[in-house]
Amino acid sequence: MARYAVIIPAAGKGERFGGGENKVFAKLDGRPIFLRTLELFINREDVCQTILVVSPGDMAEMKSRYGANLGFMGVQIAEGGAHRFDSVRSALSGVREDAEFIAVHDAVRPCVSSDRIDAVFAEAAKTGAAILAAPLFGTLKRVSESGVIDATVPRENLYEAQTPQVFRRDLLLDAYANAPQDVQAVTDDALLVERTGHPVSVVRSDPSNLKITAREDVTLANAILKARPAAKPVRKLGAFEEAQW
Ligand code: CTP
Ligand code: MG
Repeated sequence: MARYAVIIPAAGKGERFGGGENKVFAKLDGRPIFLRTLELFINREDVCQTILVVSPGDMAEMKSRYGANLGFMGVQIAEGGAHRFDSVRSALSGVREDAEFIAVHDAVRPCVSSDRIDAVFAEAAKTGAAILAAPLFGTLKRVSESGVIDATVPRENLYEAQTPQVFRRDLLLDAYANAPQDVQAVTDDALLVERTGHPVSVVRSDPSNLKITAREDVTLANAILKARPAAKPVRKLGAFEEAQW
């Protein structure tokens, strides 16, 4: 069985979400978003390592409130950086040698289904590089600064990239080692692998794998999770630990 290390970047500032603390701590049906996301991976037999990337500003709170639980779940912590690129790169240096594949999944995508994770993991094992992406169905307009339509953009073959994005270990390490100067523009990992010339396969997904960006997205995410069959309980999680979330 192929073995996957999973990197969960959670080290952003959540500026578009607003509020006093990073959106990854916001509650989704009673539990923090980042924990719901972690729980999608830690019980998988093909996952040999899970690394949560935390910003220096959140580190003390993360460790004091959730450190014991994360340790119990076998989750490691890495320190994030100014841009998503820096955060993922920081975690890459701690990936275990025996992980043949590395999956990167945003902490703020707690609604990805296990069948989509299975599908993108399997495709990466076949091709070396695969991401989830959803085809665009709306009518797309390019709008000028003044708020007037400049053009209608043909939507054929247009997809919105999501995560997980999964790569053969050497391919992702090489892509990060040869990254462009402007790392602010690196909003996903596939972009870096595309630049190496290695083809990146797309596994079809849908908008239910939403990225929690604005506050309203929590309402949507709650509705999506409610419509799903209940998730399996966290490994060996007893009433005591449950009470601490
Ligand atoms: N992220 C990260 N390190 C950064 C920036 C982002 O680990 N320096 C993570 C976020 O925590 C999030 C994921 O990357 O889980 C996707 O980023 P985004 O949705 O843009 O989150 P934020 O950057 O936190 O939000 P915003 O852009 O609104 O500030
Ligand atoms: Mg951001």
